[in-house]
Amino acid sequence: MRIVVVLISAVLLLSAPLSGTYAAQDAPAIDGEMLFQARCALCHQLPEPAMLKARQWQLIINTMQKRMQHVNMVPLTEDEKTQLIYYLSQHARQ
Ligand code: HEC
Repeated sequence: MRIVVVLISAVLLLSAPLSGTYAAQDAPAIDGEMLFQARCALCHQLPEPAMLKARQWQLIINTMQKRMQHVNMVPLTEDEKTQLIYYLSQHARQ
């Protein structure tokens, strides 16, 4: 029973970032912050967005993308990359 509850929560958590996909065209389809929390703490601790500048985050995302592909993780889609970089630039070091 407990396992079922855990599984259901996992499914809900995993599908949550996609729930806004069909929202209005100008609203971000995927929440960058949720993506960041879901995808960027899998191999190390979640980095602090304010530790790098926007331009540096852009490079880091591409490096991490390669690292994910390297270990056969589902890579970020172009949309997800855009949302992540948008979120990180909003909170980046000036
Ligand atoms: C496939 C595993 C993996 C995932 C997923 C991953 N990283 Fe990393 N990341 C690494 C490794 C390996 C390093 C280098 C060693 C370390 O610092 O732990 C690293 C290091 C970093 C660093 C330190 C700078 C550097 O290059 O050493 C930052 C910042 C970072 N990651 C950000 C992110 C962000 C943002 C995401 C989400 C898009 C992410 N990581 C997702 C594997 C991963």
